[in-house]
Amino acid sequence: MVSKELRVNRQRLQSTLQEMAKIGATPGGGVQRLTLSDEDKQARDLFVKWLKELDLEVAIDEMGSIFGKRAGKNNDLAPVMSGSHIDSQPKGGRFDGILGVMGPLEVLRTLDENNIQTERPIIIVDWTNEEGSRFAPAMVASGVWAGALDRDWVYGRTDINGKRFEDELIRIGYKGPVPAKKWPVHGYYEYHIEQGPLLEREGKIIGAPRGILCLHWYDVYLEGEANQVGPTPMAGRHDALCAAAEMILKVNELPERMGGNMVATVGEIQNYPNSRNIIPDKVHFTVDIRSWDDDHALKAWELVRRDFENIAAGRGCPIKIEETWRVEHSPFDEKMVQRILDIAQELGYSSLHMVSGAGHDASYMNQVCPTAMIFVPSIGGRSHVEVENTRWEDCEAGANVLLQAILQSANEK
Ligand code: GLV
Ligand code: MN
Ligand code: MN
Repeated sequence: MVSKELRVNRQRLQSTLQEMAKIGATPGGGVQRLTLSDEDKQARDLFVKWLKELDLEVAIDEMGSIFGKRAGKNNDLAPVMSGSHIDSQPKGGRFDGILGVMGPLEVLRTLDENNIQTERPIIIVDWTNEEGSRFAPAMVASGVWAGALDRDWVYGRTDINGKRFEDELIRIGYKGPVPAKKWPVHGYYEYHIEQGPLLEREGKIIGAPRGILCLHWYDVYLEGEANQVGPTPMAGRHDALCAAAEMILKVNELPERMGGNMVATVGEIQNYPNSRNIIPDKVHFTVDIRSWDDDHALKAWELVRRDFENIAAGRGCPIKIEETWRVEHSPFDEKMVQRILDIAQELGYSSLHMVSGAGHDASYMNQVCPTAMIFVPSIGGRSHVEVENTRWEDCEAGANVLLQAILQSANEK
């Protein structure tokens, strides 16, 4: 049963999100708050200030994740957790991640002003580096916290300028003292924009994903032979960029060759020396493969990997491949997913049982505790872009579902 009268404050949620959207605002209406950048620090500082205004117990762990704990009546009981991420894509949107941090903040503000105490403690969390666009891979802080990734391996990851993750964490003052090690959690809810077109297409307000696709990331490095483009005949060239171009198309064709049930993308490429009149001698590009079926994704990789090797040999361009990251598909806790659907119905919001194609920290949390997510529609299905948008009334609807879900879980004895 939902609490009849209790609702979040839409105006306050909206102005909180608008305040955050000023940090790293881009001319195109989005935000750029790359992980461990000055903008990330500024947004973290504001978040910590807001946590302290609620008298929460604030803790920063050695991965820079920020936790705010609200005491329960019985603090020996495992807490309910909810959160997401403050970092963004380059030229990203105003909702991805931050909605899932400001949403639970609004929930805690609502509980406070209504003098509501729960049985269990509630912890709100901002996970460091969910996006993985500055430092690959993604979701590293929840990954280390869950015991799935090695802290020192993540510390040593570098960005495109050779800056180390750990050094940047220290530079912005967020390498905290708390070990990044899981503790017992009663349940984790992550509130997020859908980032795809389904809810809008189906005319639904609340999405309840049954889980998240697997994510497999690879890095490909090619070597060629640089030379002056004019005098060098076409025959006998070792053009690393042409080899990459052929490989990229193989990735694009892969889902069709595999009979569907997956997506495959090359999203990032660096070409050297990147001069119009030099044959490229060094290329790096990334491959992202996702499916609900982990084996299917692995088989697809083996297929395209053989293509890569053949293309590299044919063009005389030595290839090096790094299998950077794999996270298995995550089927969420069915009872918690059903709870989201039930609450949506009780509150009068239409809903959709679906799947998340985007990765979330909920993947790693799902390895630690019962987990579910709440989605709200992305206008035009657009995300990871400056025009990413969600209607304020939908943000409010999702936050109301989150409020009731947290309350129900936090009052379970
Ligand atoms: C995370 O943003 C992802 O890549 O899905
Ligand atoms: Mn996100
Ligand atoms: Mn994202």
